[in-house]
This record gives sequence, structure tokens and C-alpha cells, in this order.
Amino acid sequence: GKSVISLDDLSLPQIRELLHKAQYIDSHRREVAHTCDGRVLATLFYEPSTRTRLSFETAMLRLGGKVIGFAGSQLSSASKGESIADTLKTVSNYVDVVAIRHPKEGAALVASRAASVPVINAGDGGHMHPTQTLADLATLQSRFGRVTNLTVGLCGDLMFGRTVHSLIETLCRFGNVRFVLISPDELKTPQYVLDRINATPSCSYVEVKDLVSVIGDLDVLYMTRVQQERFFNEDDYLRLRDTYILDEDKLQLAKPDMAVLHPLPRINEIAVEVDNDPRAAYFEQVKNGMLMRMALESSVVGDELPGYVPLESKEA
Ligand code: CP
Repeated sequence: GKSVISLDDLSLPQIRELLHKAQYIDSHRREVAHTCDGRVLATLFYEPSTRTRLSFETAMLRLGGKVIGFAGSQLSSASKGESIADTLKTVSNYVDVVAIRHPKEGAALVASRAASVPVINAGDGGHMHPTQTLADLATLQSRFGRVTNLTVGLCGDLMFGRTVHSLIETLCRFGNVRFVLISPDELKTPQYVLDRINATPSCSYVEVKDLVSVIGDLDVLYMTRVQQERFFNEDDYLRLRDTYILDEDKLQLAKPDMAVLHPLPRINEIAVEVDNDPRAAYFEQVKNGMLMRMALESSVVGDELPGYVPLESKEA
């Protein structure tokens, strides 16, 4: 198996296969329940998480495997100063696959170079969050039947929001996406992400500050939380955190089939009243996150899903 630090580590056919596998898993839960019997996953989480850690773990448990790990570095030897590399050289002896989350950009890459088993990036600082993107793609696929030919608005903290960076990177590979990047000046999309769009002839972007004036054009509105933990200055965070709040009034201006996504956790940026709107897709994203992690974990360790017919052979 190969490590997944960014979705660039997977080919587009491999990503399509994962989407197809996740659909199969959803409708064949009993059949796949022993796919990873005897496998062990380690979750090494140096930063808080609810969805990512619990869904990585549930995914392995639902495939018949087992899970070890730590949540928060206080109780691991990281608190005594052990390096990521030494931790991975150690844990590689115990498990078949590792999921790691760390506050530093590049930590998952460092981990993968030290490990002798596949490492999956579960979020490295403000850089990338590839398995969230898999959940996002599955949600677009189920809402629209495609992940291309869409106008995708991304709103909020586009600077530190790693889920945004991974999603843009991957949608550019699929092509034919118009990005509407909605943020305050202080939280604009990093240049390396814009460069990715610029390098993709079939994709384009505009940068705007106002959500209301563009919401009617969007097929997808991807809301994000302002990433308090990546701010150096509390005053800046307090000033910027409530820049965008999506509520039913604003949704009245949106297309009737627009999909509202959010990687979660949310703070104030989506009013709770929106949860009942049929356009709210963020709890579907949560479910898709678990299914996509089941697809990814079984693939990375090389275990076939019983009864699964690959997309590749169906298309051939
Ligand atoms: N979406 C996401 O990464 O959520 P958690 O931080 O709760 O894992």
C-alpha cells in the first residue's frame, strides 16, 4: 500500500474507484464486515478531532479490523519530546496502516517517510485534508451525479482552511469547475492554491468579499469555520470569526438545488435553522466520510471487498 498525504497521491481512476467502492459498501455492510479481519489501524492524533478520528476508527472496526492510537499528544511519548519519525518507526511494528493528524504542515509527509506501513494524512496544519475531500466528492457525486461542470463557492477562512485547499486541488484535476472564493482580505486563498487553478485551463476563479451578491450563482456553497487555532492574534480572530453567517434569509437567494457543504465543526457560520433545509448536505458529508474511509482503508492495506466488481472492469 501507498501513503496518502494529498489526493495527488491517487490517480483520478483510483479516486473514482473509491467513490464507487463507498457506494457499494453502503449497500453491502454485512458482506464487507470481515474485509479487514486481522488488520490493525493506528490513529495518531496530535490535534483535536471528532469526525476524522472517530470515522477512521469506525471504518476499520466495521471492516472487521482493530484500532489502537492516541488522541492528544499529552499521553504519548511526544510529550517527552519524541520525534514524529521515531514514533512512526515504532508504530510501524504494531499496525498495518496509520492515520495521523498534526498541527504542523508537512508532518504527515515526514511520518510517511519514516513509516514502513501506509500513512494517511488526517489533516496537517493549514495544508491538506485529503480524506475530507473524499467525503466532499462523494457528497457532490450523490447530490449532482458528477463532480465537474459546477460553480463552487468556498466561503470563510480560505487561508487556513485545509479542507478548501485539498478540495480545490482535486476538483482542478477533474476539471470544468468555476470557483467563487468568498473571504475577507485577511483570509484569502494562498497563492499555491490559486496557482493550481491558474494551471488548469478548464477551471477559473473569482475572489469576492460578499456572499449575498454571489450566492444565486452557486451550485455548491462550501462554508468553513474560521480556524482559531491557526491565528497568531486573538483580536484578529474575534474580528473575523463572524464575517459570514448563512441563514434561511440568505438561502432564499440561492438556487433551489444548491448544496450547502461544511467539513464541520461549525461555530456560527451556518445557523442551526439551515439544518432542516433540503440544501443542507453537511451531515451527509459526515456519513460519506466514514464510507470513503472504509473504501480507502481497505484499498490501502490491499484487502478486496467481497462481491465488489471494480468500476474499471465494468467500464472495460
Ligand atoms: N471535518 C473534520 O476534520 O472534523 P474533525 O476536526 O472533527 O475531525
